[in-house]
Amino acid sequence: MNPLKHVAIIMDGNGRWGLKNKNSRNAGHKAGLSTVEKIIKETIRNNIKFLTLYAFSTENWKRPKKEINFLFNLLENFLKEKIEDLNKQKIRLKIIGRKNFSNKLNNLLNLSEKKTSKNKRLQINLALNYGSKAELIYSFKELAKKKELINEKNIKKYLETKDMPDPDILIRTGNTKRLSNFLLWQIAYSEIFFEKKLWPDFNEKDYYKIIKKYKSTKRNFGNI
Ligand code: IPE
Ligand code: IPE
Ligand code: MG
Repeated sequence: MNPLKHVAIIMDGNGRWGLKNKNSRNAGHKAGLSTVEKIIKETIRNNIKFLTLYAFSTENWKRPKKEINFLFNLLENFLKEKIEDLNKQKIRLKIIGRKNFSNKLNNLLNLSEKKTSKNKRLQINLALNYGSKAELIYSFKELAKKKELINEKNIKKYLETKDMPDPDILIRTGNTKRLSNFLLWQIAYSEIFFEKKLWPDFNEKDYYKIIKKYKSTKRNFGNI
């Protein structure tokens, strides 16, 4: 059985779910939050130490302002409401991506990270204003500035994921087979699962099926 330390998820399909079921994309984003809670629980139940969730990409700024505002309001309210509870459950929250939001949201994110920084049961990396290309460019620039050797170990040193193992599993819901600028370096050897279901319809059973499938997959890493 393969060990499982890190799951990364592209939570896609909220907008389509919302339009189909409630005639509003934003209603889909709201519904997607319940899936996040279910998946966190199941991650803990399976004793997985890292969960990386793609919540907002560097490209998502192209969306209408109204949708962007809704998303960040939702995040703000979620954190205000749940951070105590996450902390009690010994969950650490880390933001990956550049925090260039309103002062109010930046402060709340910093506070949430600080409050939970000692927790060891599960680390949730929330990817916000995250883009893999930007992350890699930053790392290369640091190496050039410091005149350090360009090798795998040094590149990793300046990535947002420097302190964690690479994802074992990458899941994308929403019936779309692309990576959308997510963890391009880190998923070099991840097992990838593209799920037909839209994110709000995805549940712990679907997730557990993937975990089971992953555990019995033969991982070669180039070997035979
Ligand atoms: C959620 O899904 C991902 C976010 C950017 C928050 P989408 O909003 O992309 O949903 P679809 O793909 O339009 O259905
Ligand atoms: C990827 O989903 C980003 C997140 C899930 C946050 P998108 O829906 O933005 O991806 P594209 O633009 O369709 O590739
Ligand atoms: Mg989408």
